[in-house]
Amino acid sequence: MWRYPRILAHRGGGTLAPENTFAGLRRGMDYGFRAIEFDVMLARDGVPVVLHDPYLGRTVSGAGHVFDYDAHELAQMDAGSWFGPDFRGEPVPLFVEYVQYCKARGIWMNIEIKPARGFDRETGDKVARITRAVFADEIAAGQLERVPLLSSFSLAALESARDAAPDLPRAILMSELPPGWEPLARSVEAVAIHTNHRHLTPALAKVVRDAGFGLFCYTVDEPVRARELLDWGVQAFCTDRIDLIGPDFA
Ligand code: G3P
Ligand code: MG
Repeated sequence: MWRYPRILAHRGGGTLAPENTFAGLRRGMDYGFRAIEFDVMLARDGVPVVLHDPYLGRTVSGAGHVFDYDAHELAQMDAGSWFGPDFRGEPVPLFVEYVQYCKARGIWMNIEIKPARGFDRETGDKVARITRAVFADEIAAGQLERVPLLSSFSLAALESARDAAPDLPRAILMSELPPGWEPLARSVEAVAIHTNHRHLTPALAKVVRDAGFGLFCYTVDEPVRARELLDWGVQAFCTDRIDLIGPDFA
């Protein structure tokens, strides 16, 4: 079952702006997107920040691991120059601020919990508690279609998120569905399976749907392939090519 938007901008604005930044979000909105996927992990002080890599260097100017720095230090680093000079000084977003910014603009979120190695439970716990606090009114009102969907490759992070905020929906990320994927998904009470479209087959898509799970794919950048996946029963996907695949793609 999938009660959410069908087309999401990957990492905020796909590959048209620096990933996981406010500038990325704004670029996504410029293209009409009101639904995004993004990544979150913990800084040294346990404060979650919006980042994909557990180390600096690719998208953030600097060196070392994310957990070598407190969140306020990361928030002053440059997460935009790698993409282009126009984005110099674009900060690493604090998770809570990013979520509040999205909520205020009606942007639906798939929050990917991306723990650094060894921080799985703590990351799942923090992200779930903050998300639940920001969306307390919507949860209380039963407006579940507006509440973010938490996803992760980490089973421990999902377990921890479930324990901290059982009323927040969860999805399990699996690049390729292994034998026994269904008990794994049920163990964290996942509402959806998020998987790499490259490993999906029509038969597998049917098995997932028949088992009652929502089915989401990453990261789909070709319109022909997107059409094919939707025909297989895939209910939603994220894209880096927000210029080729719009929010109303059907
Ligand atoms: O959440 C789907 C997708 O973002 C997973 O891969 O590496 O882009 O975070 P990655
Ligand atoms: Mg991701």
